[in-house]
Amino acid sequence: MNTTTCYLNGQYLPLCDARISPLDRGFLFGDGGYEVVPVYSRRPFRIGEHLKRLQHTLDGIRLPNPHTLAEWTEKIEHIVAAAPFADQSVYLQVTRGADDKRDHAFPKDVAPTVFIFTAPLVTTPDAVRATGVAAVTAADTRWARCDLKVVALLANVVARQAAVEQGCAETIFIRDGVMIEGAASNIFVVKDGVLLAPVKDQRMLPGITYDVVLELAAKHGVPHAVRDIPEAELRGADEVWMTSSTKEVLPITTLDGRPVGSGQPGPLAQRMHGWYQQFKDEVMRRG
Ligand code: PDD
Repeated sequence: MNTTTCYLNGQYLPLCDARISPLDRGFLFGDGGYEVVPVYSRRPFRIGEHLKRLQHTLDGIRLPNPHTLAEWTEKIEHIVAAAPFADQSVYLQVTRGADDKRDHAFPKDVAPTVFIFTAPLVTTPDAVRATGVAAVTAADTRWARCDLKVVALLANVVARQAAVEQGCAETIFIRDGVMIEGAASNIFVVKDGVLLAPVKDQRMLPGITYDVVLELAAKHGVPHAVRDIPEAELRGADEVWMTSSTKEVLPITTLDGRPVGSGQPGPLAQRMHGWYQQFKDEVMRRG
C-alpha cells in the first residue's frame, strides 16, 4: 500500500486513498496534460520551466490552467515536504475533469481534475552509466503535436515496451528520415566533436534537460548546432545520448544491435554528465 501523501482536487491524502471518477476525461480520452519534475534534496529543479511548459501544453489543448504559478509551487512544496525521501520525481497532471456522460466535445461547467504525487527519484546505477545503454529505432507514428506533454501516451508506451522486450532502455523515433526523440527522452548526437541537437518544434517535446544541456554546451565552449539530424547521421554518430529529467544525460552505446562509435560512452558524454552534476549542485546550493 502506497501511503505517500498526494494531492487530489484540493485535498492532501494518502495515495492509496485517492479516487477519481471512471468518467474522468483523462481516463476516457487521455484528455489532459502532465509534468515530471525532478527534486534533489527536497528542492524542485527548474520548477519555473516545468510550469511554463505545463502552461504551453494546457494552452495547446485549450484547457484553462486551474492554478497560478504560486498555487502550483505551494502544492508541489507541500507534497515534497511530506515525502519520506529527499530525492524525488514529482508527477503532476491536469485533466478536463469528469462529466456525467461521455462526449468528445469539451464539457461545460466541469471542474478539471488536478493530481500530484511523488515517488523516489530512480537514478541510473554507476555500472549502467559506465557501459551506456542500448536503444532501438522505430517509425514515429504519433500525432503532429509532440511538443505538448499530454497524458495520451499510448504510442510512447508501446514504443518503450518494444525496447524493453529487446533488452533495451529506449526507442528512438524516426519520422520522414529524421531522428526526432526517444519514447520518453530527447536525443543528442556527437559527430567530430560537434554536439548536434534536433530542432525544438512541434515534432518533439521541448525537454527541460535538453535546454540545460545546450546551455552547458554554450557555457563550456562545446561546438554545437541545432538542426534536423538525418537517420544516417544518427547511425554514423560518434556518440548518442538520451536526456530527461529522470535519466539526466545517459549515453546510448548500442543502436539496433550495432555499437555507437567505439561502443563505449564517449568523452563528451562524460564531460557533460560532470557539468550537469556541477550545475545541479550550484543551483541547489543557491536555493
Ligand atoms: N519524459 N521527450 C519525451 C517524449 C518525454 O516523455 C520526455 C520526458 C522528454 C524529456 O523531457 P525533460 O527533459 O523535460 O524530462 C522528451 C518524462 C520524464 C516522463 O514522461 O516520465
